Amino acid sequence: MTSRRKFIQQTTAGAAALTIPFNVPAKTFRPMTDPGALVLSTWNFGLKANEEAWKVLKADGRALDAVCAGVKIPEADPKVTSVGYGGLPDRDGRVTLDSCVMDEFGNAGSVCAIEHIMHPSSVARLVMEKTPHVILVGEGALQFAIDQGFKKENLLTPESEQAWKNWLKTGDYKPINWENNHDTIGMIAIDSKGNLSGCCTTSGLAYKMHGRVGDSPIIGAGLFVDNEVGAATATGNGEYVIKVAGTAMIVELMRQGKSPVEACHEVVMRVAKKFPDKVKDIQTAFIAINKHGEYGGYALRKGFQYAHYNTEGFGLSDSEFFAE
Ligand code: GLY
Repeated sequence: MTSRRKFIQQTTAGAAALTIPFNVPAKTFRPMTDPGALVLSTWNFGLKANEEAWKVLKADGRALDAVCAGVKIPEADPKVTSVGYGGLPDRDGRVTLDSCVMDEFGNAGSVCAIEHIMHPSSVARLVMEKTPHVILVGEGALQFAIDQGFKKENLLTPESEQAWKNWLKTGDYKPINWENNHDTIGMIAIDSKGNLSGCCTTSGLAYKMHGRVGDSPIIGAGLFVDNEVGAATATGNGEYVIKVAGTAMIVELMRQGKSPVEACHEVVMRVAKKFPDKVKDIQTAFIAINKHGEYGGYALRKGFQYAHYNTEGFGLSDSEFFAE
């Protein structure tokens, strides 16, 4: 039997041997055919976000820079009431935001339930780049953001405050009601060097319990990137995305040879099979890109759209879905 000491020795030797592949530019893994740059994001507000991301990709920039620039558009838009500034608050009237990023090297950063910071995605990126950690939550995430020079702001717009006050009249706690409620932006991109990255950012479920965190800042649930295979991101009721390890599963299915749409379909069907009683009340939707630049999405329910931008132009597609 391998002793612990021997195992550590073997692991250390293995790690030394692995130094070279880890440092090889990801271009090494590029497929034979040039996929060209592409950015993909959830919902129709992805159109404007993609436009911003495309500026970076068109200039041969890095996919990570593209997605980080793109998602800042809905984060700063007070009319988008499910992301960043103007996001609908929790049931205590507090706007709490979730976000994560993942790059082509497998690095990841995330903030959960952060308050008062308009661009949680930018904080998540700094968690990835400037700390030895992956996730910072709540007060700790806010403190880190302030230390990094972010401005503390009131993110509750008068419109969102009014909507919350209207909700308070009944205070009906129905976290399964997704309509007009869940519009996370998940954005994934492949750059002209063939590298993949992604970002996911949201204010989460409207009128949620204070402290509730969905899938969006959870690596492997709301977002997953493997530069050898592809990337996937999610939107919808985060609890169900988490329960099927949604995006990590999609990337693994693509690794086994499924196309992006087939992989998204398979994972949506797992939600449908495991939680048949919930299908009528929830939405769960995924988009994915593979290393060859093929892309697609699939949703549990009708109505999901995703935006795309590549050298052929931009567009918005109606996703295929499981149920009306
Ligand atoms: N998908 C976003 C959330 O559940 O919070």
